Amino acid sequence: MMEMKVLGCALLFPLQIFLCLLRAIVRFFTRQKRRDLGTDVVLITGGGRGIGRHLAKEFAEQGARKVVLWGRTEKCLKETCEEISMTGTECHYFVCDVGNREEVYQQAKVLREKVGDVTILVNNAAVVHGKSLMDSDDDALLKTQHINTLGQFWTTKAFLPRMLELCNGHVVCINSILSLSSIPGAIDYCTSKASSYAFMESLTLGLLDCPGVGCTTVLPFHTDTEMFQGMRVRFPKLFPPLNPEMVAERTVDAVRTNTAFVVLPWTMHFLVILKRWDNHC
Ligand SMILES: NC(=O)c1ccc[n+]([C@@H]2O[C@H](COP(=O)([O-])OP(=O)(O)OC[C@H]3O[C@@H](n4cnc5c(N)ncnc54)[C@H](OP(=O)(O)O)[C@@H]3O)[C@@H](O)[C@H]2O)c1
Repeated sequence: MMEMKVLGCALLFPLQIFLCLLRAIVRFFTRQKRRDLGTDVVLITGGGRGIGRHLAKEFAEQGARKVVLWGRTEKCLKETCEEISMTGTECHYFVCDVGNREEVYQQAKVLREKVGDVTILVNNAAVVHGKSLMDSDDDALLKTQHINTLGQFWTTKAFLPRMLELCNGHVVCINSILSLSSIPGAIDYCTSKASSYAFMESLTLGLLDCPGVGCTTVLPFHTDTEMFQGMRVRFPKLFPPLNPEMVAERTVDAVRTNTAFVVLPWTMHFLVILKRWDNHC
């Protein structure tokens, strides 16, 4: 019986690939239906500054019903929240360290009671310690993994079950191109982002059979925020940093069109292919 099932799956596999390709081609040539954000409650971790702040503004601009910000620094959360509220979109903020499991579950409960069910979760918060393995102290290495990787486990566990009940939801991860192509000197960050990529890939596949609930993983190249300030890129004219507004705009568009993976800029696909090729030489 088991063998028959395996054989059936193996025979269906080429057909599934063909259907996926067909769907991708149709999507490429037709204007896609966009999700109306008018009933959505969007939670953005690390929403007070950097890319998260631009994401919050973009979701508000594109019609989200409510925007909620999480982060550790109250001052920037408050400023971003006030800026969004002034445009007419309901905005809330809560101080929450996503690397602290108990705090995430506690603040998720508070959020549900005070604001309502989250229908779009944007896992954006991250840190970089940015030292080699031998120069990093253990606590700093653990902290990056807690925030960049495990934080997503806790937030997704907190909000996904209700999305599945409602058959309405979207989980977003602001990852990095470094999850597919590491650099030296940021071992904590690259490891955490590679792990986060695997998490999203697995989640995306697991949710394929769940109507109304989708995932988006965004893989940006170096972006002009505080995170990698001072980082030297080899050919800065050829590879200028992205601006965070553009990353936010493309992310919201990917959510609205239910696009699973977005590489920014798209030319970075070549880098990933070249790297794979180089690894095999
Ligand atoms: N900048 C780049 O070159 C680049 C490139 C590719 C991908 N990305 C990704 O884009 C995302 C945003 O990065 P960014 O460039 O905007 O960096 P950023 O300017 O340093 O902002 C990071 C954000 O994460 C929040 N955060 C950090 N630790 C947190 C914690 N424990 N709990 C809650 N919030 C926390 C920060 O707020 P508080 O400090 O107040 O908590 C801040 O809002 C990250 O996932 C990053 O990996 C960035």
